[in-house]
Parts: sequence; structure tokens; C-alpha cells
Amino acid sequence: VKAAVFASGTGSNFQALLESESLAADIVLLVCDRPGAMVIEKAKAYGIPVFVADRKMFADKAAFELDILRQLQLHKVEWIFLAGYMRLIGNTLLNAFPSRIVNIHPSLLPAFPGKDAIAQALQAGVKVTGVTVHYIDAGMDTGPIIAQEAVSVETGDSLSELTERIHQVEHRLYPKTINHLLVQH
Ligand code: GRF
Repeated sequence: VKAAVFASGTGSNFQALLESESLAADIVLLVCDRPGAMVIEKAKAYGIPVFVADRKMFADKAAFELDILRQLQLHKVEWIFLAGYMRLIGNTLLNAFPSRIVNIHPSLLPAFPGKDAIAQALQAGVKVTGVTVHYIDAGMDTGPIIAQEAVSVETGDSLSELTERIHQVEHRLYPKTINHLLVQH
């Protein structure tokens, strides 16, 4: 199965997917909406083709996504895995990939959707947070949940300590969940 990863930032989850043994998908393309993002260098280091799409260069979201869609079609992409892609997916891509766009989010949704979910959890004082893998719909982190794993918040946790533990879980849970998902299809 051919898949594209969409990312905007560091790309540690992208790297975890590339390094996971026996991933059931072939990652054939990285789509990045931020020229200069660190994830672009990671893709180059692994020899993965990169498509950089800058939203500012397009009149509207539909034109932006149509440009991405053309690349996905060129690479015969069947699944999209979002990994720190900081933008809502619009109808152009949702309609082209119904129930085939998956996201990973660093909280136990529906708690703490949106940006800075780990900081939100610390701020709220919860004792348990975690990681969610879910299908994408038009909302912000609202699609059907596929898998979740809890992470305890320890007394005195700093943002970076909690982030580090959540990332470790993400890097394990995302490839595992993708593999489960793909055998069902
Ligand atoms: C991850 O925490 C992911 O859950 C969230 O954005 C972060 C991306 O981190 N959606 P990275 O770029 O994969 O390191």
C-alpha cells in the first residue's frame, strides 16, 4: 500500500514510521506545507520524495489541496498519514481519500484538541493524558478514534519531560496502529 505522510515540523513521527520494521505501507511521498521545516531534511536523508506546498501561493484552500492531490495521484498514494501537520484538511482531500486519512494527536481525545495539547493537559492538572490515533474529518481532531494509549502525568513533570514520554508512545503506537488498520483493508 502506498502512503504519503503530511507534516509541518520536526518529523519525529515521520522518522519513526520510516524506521519501523515491517511497516505495512510504503511511504512514497512527504507533503510539507512549511518551506524550511526540519522534516524536509529528514525525508531527503531517507531518500523520500518531498512535495512542498506553500498555502500562501494559492488563492484558496481548494486550489492548494488540488495541487497536493495531483502529486498524490502521480505517486499513486492510497493512504495519508498526518504527523504533525498543522492545518485542517479540506473537502478536496477528504473527498478524494474517504476514511483513508489518519492523524496522531498527543492527548486522549476528545480532551485537549488543537494546538499545544500537552501543555493544555499540564495546565489542566490531569493525572493521565496520552496519545490518540484517529481518522480525520472536517473538524479539529474530531474524527473516529482508532487507538489510544494512556501516559501518566508525574508530579513535577516539566513540559519537556512529559512531551518526551508522549513522543515515545507516539513513535510506537503510530506504526503499530497503521499495521492493524491496513490488514483490515
Ligand atoms: C506530535 O506530537 C503529534 O502527535 C502532533 O504533532 C507532533 C508532531 O511531532 N500532531 P513530530 O513532528 O512528529 O516530531
